[in-house]
Amino acid sequence: MLVAVTKVVPYLLLGTVNQQRVSRKRTYLMCSPEHFTVEYAINPWMDVTTAVDADLAVKQWDRLRETLVGLGHDVHLLTPEAGLPDMVYAANGAFVVDGTVYGARFKHEQRTAEAAVHRAFYEEQGWRFIAPNETNEGEGDFAYLPEAHGGLILAGHGFRTEPAAHAEAQEALGRPVVSLRLIDPRFYHLDVALASIDDENIVYYPGAFSAASQKVLAQLFPDAIVADDEDALAFGLNLVSDGLNVVLNNEATRLAGKLKAAGYHPVPVELSELKKGGGSVKCCIAELRH
Ligand code: ARG
Repeated sequence: MLVAVTKVVPYLLLGTVNQQRVSRKRTYLMCSPEHFTVEYAINPWMDVTTAVDADLAVKQWDRLRETLVGLGHDVHLLTPEAGLPDMVYAANGAFVVDGTVYGARFKHEQRTAEAAVHRAFYEEQGWRFIAPNETNEGEGDFAYLPEAHGGLILAGHGFRTEPAAHAEAQEALGRPVVSLRLIDPRFYHLDVALASIDDENIVYYPGAFSAASQKVLAQLFPDAIVADDEDALAFGLNLVSDGLNVVLNNEATRLAGKLKAAGYHPVPVELSELKKGGGSVKCCIAELRH
């Protein structure tokens, strides 16, 4: 187990609150953007007239993969398929908690076939797989916090995942699911508006959520880090954290500063090509939780 601890600051002894952050080794799943294009538009970020540099997309994605490996994490790879240009957004293929995989069922037919590729991966590896009946886009709309309230799932709805899938996920995974309503089409998945930064806390952009859902988040996570609209629109919240190291889009500079001030270690990466499909760091990475 990899345990890296932030430097102990001497004035800790004087009573200044400066939390020590600890990284926990993770297992991730990614899929190379070899076949990435923007040939249809199913979210407001996608523009079919924009040219995509596939080589650059692969280079940037590879850099992200190397970054995770360099931080000590395991990264499994899914083989990309021609004709499924959004497969690079591996977060959408399933949601895994406590060794159980709740499969995805995509909203748009352009992505439907991706679910079976993910399912085959998990079944081959011997994971317990539960097939969904309800529309849901995996970790795009589900987040898990193992130490919050004994183990809590946060789930988004409004654009992709149906509320019925939240109930289905709760039954499949045996963890309480808190439903949150997304109201801004630019934040069409939960993972572009909210992320876990460690086992018990989150960072989020309130403006992406209904007023009632904002109240729920404020009640459950009084110590959450709040991002501003500029960092949120720069895909800053579409991040992956191991509890200490927070890998995030390099344009979200103020958010990186806030994370640093809270004791985390921001690791900025450039993913300009994959932004053209409406995603960044987190969209490219699924976490496999045993
Ligand atoms: N083009 C993809 C879509 O609209 C992007 C998915 C981004 N993934 C994510 N986890 N937010 O479905």
